[in-house]
Parts: sequence; structure tokens; C-alpha cells
Amino acid sequence: MANEKAKRIAAREAAKLIQPKTVVGLGTGSTATFFIEELAQRAEQEQLQLKAVVPSSSRSGELAKSLGLPVKDINDVFNIDITVDGADEVDPEKRLIKGRGGAHVREKILASSSQEMVVIADESKLVDALGVGVLPVEVVVFGSPATRLKIENLGYKGAWRMTEESSFFLTENGNFLYDISFDTPMTDPEQTHEELIHLPGVVDTGLFFHLARRIVIGWNDGKHEIR
Ligand code: 5RP
Repeated sequence: MANEKAKRIAAREAAKLIQPKTVVGLGTGSTATFFIEELAQRAEQEQLQLKAVVPSSSRSGELAKSLGLPVKDINDVFNIDITVDGADEVDPEKRLIKGRGGAHVREKILASSSQEMVVIADESKLVDALGVGVLPVEVVVFGSPATRLKIENLGYKGAWRMTEESSFFLTENGNFLYDISFDTPMTDPEQTHEELIHLPGVVDTGLFFHLARRIVIGWNDGKHEIR
């Protein structure tokens, strides 16, 4: 796995930020997986007595449960103290692109229901401007060819995300993902989000604004930094 060491370092440092007797939101993806492992280890060693952990995906929920963390469904929790999650891209203003793991809608719900979102990222995720890689857009299956046309009529280009078995990738919510690619990074990500979010059939984009408060960055040389 690429940048495994740096991801693990970011995850370990973020686990140290968790206070006892709190409710913790869990992201999805390889860095979030490291965080869940590190949190479970710390919870056991230091008896954190967490009130609950709230997963953003079945994958994260199953892992957390298997490691003995007190998993609760988002529908049974109204206040999350802190959510820790990975990202695909982080810009200098702490704006994010998320969704390579297909869970960004749930992740945004968790982050926006939390007192704080902490992002854990290896150094490769830091960009000067968002849109170096793809921007995932979650699209309702019903009428998806028409929704795709509406996206492309705005001037965006991309492709449906497919599985290795060449079937449509389904998100945690059973929707499709249209991955927009850019020739050059976005100059105005807020405008891009604004254009896409109002199209009927678009559930949400992978753009996160004003949600990440602290970014824990892991470096391949073993160092870390909190911004
Ligand atoms: C899942 C996400 C992930 O946080 C993001 O894709 C980063 O993944 P990884 O930690 O595996 O690099 O947004 O929807």
C-alpha cells in the first residue's frame, strides 16, 4: 500500500488527540483503518472508556467492532465530539476532496455533526489546488444517464466508477459515482460544488469546505505535523 508508513504515523498521532469518555466518528479508507486500529489499541491500554464510536461505513464499523470498540449507529447518536477521517486531497485552506472510498456522503454527515473534524493524511495528499486527481460525485441510480448528461453539459468530463469486475461501483448508499477529471486543478472549487449540487440526481460532491479543523500529516521520514 502506498505511503503506508506515513498514513500509520498520521493515524497514531490523531489517536493521541482522543479524549476519554467521548464520542468519536470514524472515516473510511486505508488511513481511517489505521486510525481505528490505533484508537482501539490506545482505548485498551489507557482505558479511555469511549462513550461510542460512530462509523461512516460498514467496513469501518465491522473493523471497530472486531477490535472491541463501542460501535453505535449514527441514528442513535446526536452529538459527536470528534471525527477522524482521511482525504484524497488537502489544499492550503484545508479544503478537501474525499470519496475515493465511496463513503463521502456519510463522511460529510458525520463531519458536519461533529464538534471537530480531524483529517489524517500522508504527505502525498497535500496539493496547492484541488483537482489534481478526480472529484467523486455521488449520483442516484434512477435517471443516472440523464444526470450524467447534465453534468457534462456544464462542461465537466469524467467516467462512472467501475469495479474490477466491470460492474458499476455502488456507494455506501447504493448510488453510482461519477468521477470528474480536470485538465488543470480547479480555480474555484466552491463554484464547482455549487454548480453540481443543484442538479437533480446529484446527491453530493466529494468537496468538503469549512469542516476540517486540524490536519495531521504523516511524512515518509517518520515525522508528523499538525496544521
Ligand atoms: C473515502 C475517503 C477516504 O478518506 C479517502 O479516499 C482517502 O483514502 P485513503 O486513506 O485510503 O488514502 O474519502 O470515501
